[in-house]
Amino acid sequence: MREVDFLVIGSGIAGLTYALKTANRFPDRKVIVMTKATADETNTKYAQGGIAVVNDLENDSYEKHIEDTLIAGDGLCNTRVVEIVVKEGPERVNEIIEWGAQFDKEDDGDYKRGKEGGHSESRILHHKDVTGREMERALLDAVAAQKNIEFINHCFVIDIITQHHLGYLISKATPDVECYGVYVLNLETNRIEKILSKVTVLATGGNGQIYRTTTNPSIATGDGVAMTYRAKGRIENMEFIQFHPTALYEAGAKGQAFLITEAVRGDGGILRNKNGEAFMEKYDPRKDLAPRDIVARAIDSEMKKAGVEHVWLDCRHFPLEEFTEHFPNIYEKCLSIGIDITKHMIPVAPAAHYSCGGIKTDEWGRSSIRNLYACGECASTGLHGANRLASNSLLEAMVFSHRCYLDSAEKIGQLKSAPEIPDWNARGTSEPKEMILITQSLKELQQVMSDYVGIVRNDIRLQRAMRRLDLLWEETEQLYESSTVSPQLLELRNMITVGYLVVKGAGFRKESRGLHYNTDYPGYSDLVQNIVL
Ligand code: FAD
Ligand code: SIN
Repeated sequence: MREVDFLVIGSGIAGLTYALKTANRFPDRKVIVMTKATADETNTKYAQGGIAVVNDLENDSYEKHIEDTLIAGDGLCNTRVVEIVVKEGPERVNEIIEWGAQFDKEDDGDYKRGKEGGHSESRILHHKDVTGREMERALLDAVAAQKNIEFINHCFVIDIITQHHLGYLISKATPDVECYGVYVLNLETNRIEKILSKVTVLATGGNGQIYRTTTNPSIATGDGVAMTYRAKGRIENMEFIQFHPTALYEAGAKGQAFLITEAVRGDGGILRNKNGEAFMEKYDPRKDLAPRDIVARAIDSEMKKAGVEHVWLDCRHFPLEEFTEHFPNIYEKCLSIGIDITKHMIPVAPAAHYSCGGIKTDEWGRSSIRNLYACGECASTGLHGANRLASNSLLEAMVFSHRCYLDSAEKIGQLKSAPEIPDWNARGTSEPKEMILITQSLKELQQVMSDYVGIVRNDIRLQRAMRRLDLLWEETEQLYESSTVSPQLLELRNMITVGYLVVKGAGFRKESRGLHYNTDYPGYSDLVQNIVL
């Protein structure tokens, strides 16, 4: 058992930013950062295009960035939150630059600013096509210099501890549910431990792994959302899953798909269908740089019409030097599989990429559970509405981790230690006889989500998905009740919960808006609302 003032779950941009600021402000208090893998295995590390920020007020304005975010969000953004993120963003970006992150510059020393879908101006700061890697590096270096931050890697957080674990009956209607810390599976000792904390911050990232094809790494299993839901916290807008239009298509490849950043289209890459036709002009006047929901649906439609598994991204017209200067990683990756971008088009297809919904928070990153904060991709702050504007998530993570820090720093002096919490109860469980059952259920879940809850949905598909998820849920709960826990089983359980929340949200939304497109309700409903579960 450990007791700590500040417990941060997750070591991506959100968790590390929070930890750094808090540790700096309270040198005599300990901050624990806990991760289920290595410290740098995060969605953050894979971010390519960059961070959207207004830092050239001569050619850009807050109003334009706000407007672009609201348009992409399709009527569901919280305008106040959009203003907060856009206006506080530049200061947060300056901080990470001070901590050592390098963004590409022109010869005159000004920043290079890229363009991506839905942006009316070029405002994406980037580090070639590996921006996330650079930001994660800078953050980890800064954190390493902070003596009062302790990293505990390879520890899988299972559940948030609340009054439920003291024997009280907790429901969604219970006021003042409180977080006392977490139960974790230490993957090195295989023991379940208690970590008690005054403040707990969930920065657990996305959930792309619930789909068969995703740009997300294997850690992205929606654990934070699932555990908050189990603890009776509020979850919002889960139906808005963003599919990135251009993941590299590799026949037969499994797991994480390599991303071809939208910045390639920002620099002039053209999408072409099976017949070589530049098809985006049929769908939107902004063509290849329309917001992501529109481009992903257009590609889906072209693929379905032609009965093929990908379209093409044409970069053959780029001067080689220009391409390799901005996109060295993509160039190398393509070359490694026999695609010379100067001669061949790149096969691309949409892949699950980002969860716009998540743990519902207020303007200070507070969840509906007391002393539990959420920031980064696992949170639903109100910024993205029905569709996230490209490169807004790194910015949101920095702005909201800062706000979580401010709020929790103000409160920490008044927070009491947790009451006595019982140890994890593993009575009646034994080693599962067949781990393969877990793997098979995971495959089924990913199949169901991809086939029935993808880019284009309808009621019959959603009903089918729910029936299949119900069965998977029942079988997995039986396994959970009788087996000693493993990370595979815990992730499966979390992913089924997240899948359920996506389908439930999608079922409630009787309209098509942003990323949620249901052919049974092709227009907007009169009721503009967030769906809170
Ligand atoms: P993450 O960086 O995903 O970190 C999650 C952390 O939580 C990890 O440390 C993990 O170990 C930990 N964790 C999760 N569950 C548990 C558990 N049960 N127990 C213990 N630890 C746990 N956004 C942009 O703005 N611009 C871009 O250019 C961009 N490009 C992208 C490219 C790709 C390929 C991908 C996948 C995403 C991209 N995004 C981009 C989105 C952006 O990278 C993510 O939304 C953001 O990095 C999420 O950061 P985070 O801190 O919330 O979570
Ligand atoms: C990309 O580089 O295309 C991804 C940007 C994002 O997800 O915001």
